[in-house]
Amino acid sequence: MARLLMRWLDPAFGHPRGVLGRVGGAMMLRGNAEQEHRAVEQAVLRPGEHVLVLGHGPGLGLALAAAAVDPGGHVVGVDPSEPMRRMAAARCADQIARGVVEVRPGRAENTGCSGASIDVAISVNNIMLWDREAGFNELARVLRRGGRLVATVHRHVLDISPDQLRDDARHAGFTDITVTSRPRRFTSSAVELLASLPN
Ligand SMILES: C[S@@+](CC[C@H](N)C(=O)[O-])C[C@H]1O[C@@H](n2cnc3c(N)ncnc32)[C@H](O)[C@@H]1O
Repeated sequence: MARLLMRWLDPAFGHPRGVLGRVGGAMMLRGNAEQEHRAVEQAVLRPGEHVLVLGHGPGLGLALAAAAVDPGGHVVGVDPSEPMRRMAAARCADQIARGVVEVRPGRAENTGCSGASIDVAISVNNIMLWDREAGFNELARVLRRGGRLVATVHRHVLDISPDQLRDDARHAGFTDITVTSRPRRFTSSAVELLASLPN
């Protein structure tokens, strides 16, 4: 069911492209704002930290993360969708001009970041699109020792059990893993994964 839904919605939300992609971007900005805010809160970002935002879409999470790590911090956003990178770059124009935010092509499986260069990685509503083994391994590579991972996703688009996410994270070397399903009023629950690398 989740797989069928994702295939149908792919041009608007999964791999946003063309007119549908731009409409999808505007819808995500409103519909996923609560999750973007919560993920940044759960990341407990501090000024000076280096953050990687995966699949940022229209860029709200990038802007929130940048505000939290400024001054002295840096946020890099990677997304394979060119229209989403354009929307995010427009949203974060000031922070890009000041060198706090960088937006570039990439995906969870291949972020282009140097090894052990990132304090916190954040993923909102894209883990269902990853090759999960490659994605978790890439995050274990780019995060510093003690680095944190925050991932959240709508339950209705996740075609695996939340426990499988925990196993995937553990397999890549993450520890202190918690996976919870947070009920919401008007849509399916949000599956939230918090994890870190050992010190
Ligand atoms: C449903 S949107 C979510 C966007 C935003 N984070 C939100 O919740 O509103 C999924 C985003 O993930 C991106 N994406 C697709 N495949 C990806 C991958 N393998 N790794 C990271 N991001 C990916 C898409 O281009 C799209 O911008």
